[in-house]
Amino acid sequence: MTQDIYLTGITTTGTPHIGNYVGAIRPGIEASKDPTKKNYYFLADYHALAKNEDPDKISQSTLEISAAWLALGLDTQNAIFYRQSDISEIPQLNWILASMTAKGLMNRAHSYKAAVATNAQGGNKDPDKGITMALYSYPILMAADILMFKATKVPVGRDQKQHVEMARDIAQRFNHHFGDVLVLPDPLIDADTAVLAGLDGRKMSKSYNNAIPLFADATRLRKLIMKIKTNSLEPGVPKETDGSTLYDMYKAFATTQETMDIEARYADGIAWGEMKQLLFELINDHIHPAREEYERLMGNPAIVEAELLQGAERAREVAAPYLAEIRDAIGVRKLG
Ligand code: TRP
Repeated sequence: MTQDIYLTGITTTGTPHIGNYVGAIRPGIEASKDPTKKNYYFLADYHALAKNEDPDKISQSTLEISAAWLALGLDTQNAIFYRQSDISEIPQLNWILASMTAKGLMNRAHSYKAAVATNAQGGNKDPDKGITMALYSYPILMAADILMFKATKVPVGRDQKQHVEMARDIAQRFNHHFGDVLVLPDPLIDADTAVLAGLDGRKMSKSYNNAIPLFADATRLRKLIMKIKTNSLEPGVPKETDGSTLYDMYKAFATTQETMDIEARYADGIAWGEMKQLLFELINDHIHPAREEYERLMGNPAIVEAELLQGAERAREVAAPYLAEIRDAIGVRKLG
């Protein structure tokens, strides 16, 4: 049996928040330390272009996300950590795959359909208003990211499952025409990984403006936690853990014993104010040790840059010869 190869990308938009931490960063860092696993992690900065971010925001986000993963202990000796735009083979493969991809397949992408639906709701005559080719063909670039490294398992959130399935479809079609060249990936969706709600109870997301930044200083962290929406039950009245954002967040950081203790406090009717204070202390204790290293890296971008370039070198050792094979298969090759 051949070894699984894990690969996942992080779009460089926004500041890492505790939802990203619990859902992707923490499990990713854990996996990076396993010497029996081959892991690729990368910053999808070309994908960020599809979101119309301004230039300084893209580079700031690249720095913040890299610094966060490094400060929290990503093992970059074992795992390969790189920036998409440093691997010139990826956009080359993107074009090759574009020539293999049915336009109809892209028409079915959820992200594109959602953008069209928003235009229709807004009463726009042009269903494609504001939609760039980057947004439209986003799944092809994502397929290139994945197929470039022969990834077999792609850990993603539910919203990205369809994109990984499209990568698989594209690879299959390629192989049908050109032989067994590309490796078919599978999405890996961990049902145990918590999806955290944000301040307003909706899924924590930068686009809802309800996120708690992972490295907010203690004062800001406490302030934000105090804003989390609860119901209006008084202290002393027993409370449900089910559907409680505070409880879910607590559980995501707590040990089993701490979770059981807090469940007992809910049953006893803990006051929301006290629960928020306990949640603040738990998260702060958890993040505090990495915060100093995060600040150090943010103040020394050259250290982060060096890490990324070292990762890119390792990634290209894989990508460059493989792209040559792929080009050979499609006839874009040397003549003699
Ligand atoms: N599109 C993914 C997201 O928004 C990020 C991403 C880009 C990705 N390329 C990838 C994830 C390749 C997994 C594999 O979350």
